[in-house]
Amino acid sequence: MSLELSAATPDIPPEATDGVWLADIKTGETYAPFEEIRYTSDEDNLLEVRYADLPTFEDFQGQGRGVWRYHAALPFETGVTLPEGDTPLHRAPSIRDAAGVRSLRIKHEGMNPTGSFKDRGMTVGVRVAKELGVGRLACASTGNTSAALAAYGARGGMQTLVLLPAGKVAAGKIAQAALHDARILEVDGNFDDCLDIVQDLARRGEVYLLNSLNPFRLEGQKTIGLEILERFYEEYGRFPDRIILPVGNAGNTSALYKAFRELVQSGALRPDEVPKLTGVQAAGAAPMVEAVEHGWSGIERWDDVETRATAIRIGNPVNAPKALPGIRETGGTAIAVTDDEITVAQRDLAREGIGVEPASAASVAGLKKLRGRSRIDSDEDIVCLTTGHLLKDPDEAFKAGGNPESVGGDTDAVLEHIGAK
Ligand code: F0G
Repeated sequence: MSLELSAATPDIPPEATDGVWLADIKTGETYAPFEEIRYTSDEDNLLEVRYADLPTFEDFQGQGRGVWRYHAALPFETGVTLPEGDTPLHRAPSIRDAAGVRSLRIKHEGMNPTGSFKDRGMTVGVRVAKELGVGRLACASTGNTSAALAAYGARGGMQTLVLLPAGKVAAGKIAQAALHDARILEVDGNFDDCLDIVQDLARRGEVYLLNSLNPFRLEGQKTIGLEILERFYEEYGRFPDRIILPVGNAGNTSALYKAFRELVQSGALRPDEVPKLTGVQAAGAAPMVEAVEHGWSGIERWDDVETRATAIRIGNPVNAPKALPGIRETGGTAIAVTDDEITVAQRDLAREGIGVEPASAASVAGLKKLRGRSRIDSDEDIVCLTTGHLLKDPDEAFKAGGNPESVGGDTDAVLEHIGAK
């Protein structure tokens, strides 16, 4: 099977353009990358981008910082950029000590230009859209993808259309899409319904789809994994044992796995050095966890999903066929956390000065829960991914944090109020 960690380096097919092509992840059927617009294979399976030359760590040396540092692992040298990537790998000593692990770093993807990891995918995706010469860009979104698409579309001088589940998108994200001038459609349905519709529009040639079903988006998101490996190695002289990440559509899980698989194929990384990919979902939207726990080869769609972590309120993770092998092949796992566990983790991170939106805190909630069940060892080096910035969801931040207090407009009133008088 082509998604095994030990899969052989593929032969270059005649469809390749400059050593890049698309392949059906199940059948291996190959397609030209930029001649026609396609998101899935003729058999309706997921596609992935393949390369004649696979990257090594040496290829990245001296190539600057951010996503395009890793152009040796990408289909182009550069793209429509703001720029993105190069996000911090924070220490979080109190969370590390409470969890009782050897080391813990927080990769804060909320520090990207629009405040989430989606920017890494969009810089590549919008570059590809330009290559294809398409007119209107579109996505379904729980919010962050729409914010990133709106900003990168604006930067690329292209029209954008976003479909959002009405009433279920955090305020900061809609504000971004609005100001960057996306056309915003609030759909009477959940994210999965929005994605069904936008896929239909794409099939009819009305829009160019930039959800993570688009294999080029995931290429940009691979750079999260590449940055983690490089930075962690620089500091510790070894790679992390495990990467814990929130899962919605399972795009990141798929992208990180692909990054590691390509490094293994190039000989830059040994299979036993690949971090264990560990996915965390909200208990009210956990089809991936269900599939991992039951050992299923695919997920079953959840029609009713609910969680305060609206970014991952998803019942039909379209990238599951790529992500499930990633979790299994790396020896990882998946776990569901409750909304209250997410809020506690959001506060824990905030106490370290790291401000994240609820979905992001799921990774830290998952770490605590897995350690509590001894499913993570105390000698592990862990990286938790936090995917979006605190300001994305101001309403949940207010609910999780303390309340402002009213006070009179003079120093005495303030002193009295704080009990200093
Ligand atoms: N965290 C945040 C903050 C997200 O916005 C998302 C996905 C995820 C995690 C899940 O990532 O899909 O790669 O497993 N948000 C999408 C959106 C669905 O529309 O913004 P995944």
